[in-house]
Amino acid sequence: MTDPNRSPQILRFPDAGTLAREAARFFAARAQQAVAERGMFYVALSGGSTPRALFEVLAGAPFRDQVDWSRTQVFFGDERFVPADSPESNYRMANETLLSRVPIPERFVHRVATEDMTPEEAAALYDEGIRRVFRVGLSEAPQFDLILLGLGPDGHTASLFPGSMALNVRDTLVVANFVEKMDSWRITFTYPLINAARCDAFLVQGREKAERVRQALAGQADLPAAHVQPAQGELIWLLDDEAAAELGQPGAGVPPGGA
Ligand code: 6PG
Repeated sequence: MTDPNRSPQILRFPDAGTLAREAARFFAARAQQAVAERGMFYVALSGGSTPRALFEVLAGAPFRDQVDWSRTQVFFGDERFVPADSPESNYRMANETLLSRVPIPERFVHRVATEDMTPEEAAALYDEGIRRVFRVGLSEAPQFDLILLGLGPDGHTASLFPGSMALNVRDTLVVANFVEKMDSWRITFTYPLINAARCDAFLVQGREKAERVRQALAGQADLPAAHVQPAQGELIWLLDDEAAAELGQPGAGVPPGGA
């Protein structure tokens, strides 16, 4: 469990553009810190539409050159069970907006392979791949430097949806999760992997998410996002004012140089 004395850090910004820019600054600062301290930056990207603006800013000046892409390994916190060229693919969106535009070695982009296999096989393969990169055995959860997370309108995060079986998985890092209401399979990080991170950072934008942000921060138990509770790491919420609208008075932004 997260140290009960350590509450999440909430960073809010006036609009979506500032949120994307400050999230890019935060990303670059964490990348620099990880490379300086351990020689590599391990990051898992979130999916959906919100991170698109962040990825586009990261792929351009000045942030592009503030990340050592040769020492950055990119994973995906979740993926739709679709081919890599599907418009639904989180990998495709990240590749188009960021990964194809920065000098990251191909071997350091770890997409979820989905072709010619079952969802369960895809999850097992991804789980095995993470363990191989981090050199951890079956009983350990590796520590990502940063896991970016989104927040769905129902309070889901990654592909941990309310009422889905993945919420209860504790013995793997990755699992295949059938999402009834979407009638589709997802491949997702599980809580043991998410909560082992040095930093879990939600990136949420838009007024339609504000009530779910409030509920998640209030620890509402039926919200999957509320169970992101890094045991040792930091929990940070990067919000625009619209997504923070139910939280009361405006808070501080990111201090200079990133959080
Ligand atoms: C996905 C995501 C998912 C997403 C939320 C928010 O694959 O869809 O990982 O968890 O972060 O659904 O999505 P939007 O950013 O599109 O609102």
